[in-house]
Amino acid sequence: MNPIRSQFILNPDITHLNHGSFGACPIPIFNDYQKWQLELEKNTFNFFVKQGPVLLEKSRVALGNFIGCDKDDVVFTMNPSYALNIVIKDFGLKAGDEILATDIEYGAMDRTWNHYCKKAGAKYVRQHISLPVTSKEQIIEEFFQGLTSKTKAIFISHITSTTALRLPIEEICKRAQAEGLITIVDGAHVPGHIDLNLQELDADIYTGACHKWLLTPKGSSFLYVKKEFQPFDPLLISWGFESDMPSESQFIDHHQLQGTRDYSAFLTIPAALQFREDNNWNQVAADCRKLAQANYERFAEVTGGTILCPISDDFLGQMCSLSINCPDPVALQELLYNKYRIEIPVMPHDDKVFIRYSINGYHTQQDLDTLFEALEEIKATSNMLG
Ligand SMILES: Cc1ncc(COP(=O)(O)O)c(C=O)c1O
Repeated sequence: MNPIRSQFILNPDITHLNHGSFGACPIPIFNDYQKWQLELEKNTFNFFVKQGPVLLEKSRVALGNFIGCDKDDVVFTMNPSYALNIVIKDFGLKAGDEILATDIEYGAMDRTWNHYCKKAGAKYVRQHISLPVTSKEQIIEEFFQGLTSKTKAIFISHITSTTALRLPIEEICKRAQAEGLITIVDGAHVPGHIDLNLQELDADIYTGACHKWLLTPKGSSFLYVKKEFQPFDPLLISWGFESDMPSESQFIDHHQLQGTRDYSAFLTIPAALQFREDNNWNQVAADCRKLAQANYERFAEVTGGTILCPISDDFLGQMCSLSINCPDPVALQELLYNKYRIEIPVMPHDDKVFIRYSINGYHTQQDLDTLFEALEEIKATSNMLG
């Protein structure tokens, strides 16, 4: 068995190929999480009022060093949806404004933009990206076909959800900024998955989840906002709003104090970074990308589906998604789980269906073989795969 596997809490009876949705937390990081929860319960006042802000700052420093930003330009949020709701709700949308996005964004974010755009009389533009993508240039070209004189900002995933594509964000942000647009990047899948340096990327607003590929417990994500666009109204008004004791950063004051809440998951960032170092995670991640990519075409053959991009680190990380002909995605996902004990998402997106596998340090080729054999049998014995 893969020796890293024993460090993860995952149920050993399930072939878990869905790291992308909710991550998976290794035992040492989970122990750190519980240590903070215990500290909190032992001495609530001291923890919340005195120790808490200091510990949160330490965690922001550690995260900032990892993703290349100042500790006061990044706040913790429960998840990327929360982070982007802060931004979208208080974005100052006006009638006629347009937000340029792709048609392969995360559904919850589409809903959020649609809601606030509708309220303001603005327009959320889901620009079509042809699949399979063939080159970075094709993506960039198609994306900017949606640009008009009314476009105020772009919103785009760094790694997409259902299609698991790494988009050429660096080039897209540069071009958008040259057009005078605000750049908002949904990097939910990025921290701990592929390299991220916010200073180099220079996006104006960026969110990422730490509980996916950085391996923290659930409820640990962040919102980064460049100083000139801070502070944004908090989603929840608390003591940090019009604070009696303001810190140097109104952005931190607004979003860090959110009433009483358990922020232990935020405090595990240093332990998560230590875990990466202790286990040579850059190499682990590189091996995982290789394993994921080496199997990609094989799954197209067995499912009769289509791969979505050229097989290269330019377009893929540790997740691969296939477009499949599947009349009932819910039934296929349930069958894979109930009969074959394989956890893998089968997701409809507009008029297509995608099946996406994720590879992390706890996997071996055997896990993908298990999936392959299950799909082979399903294809031969049912009409679930077109
Ligand atoms: C691209 C993308 N954006 C945003 C999110 C939001 O995550 P959550 O629902 O946890 O806020 C996800 C979740 O998987 C995602 O894949």
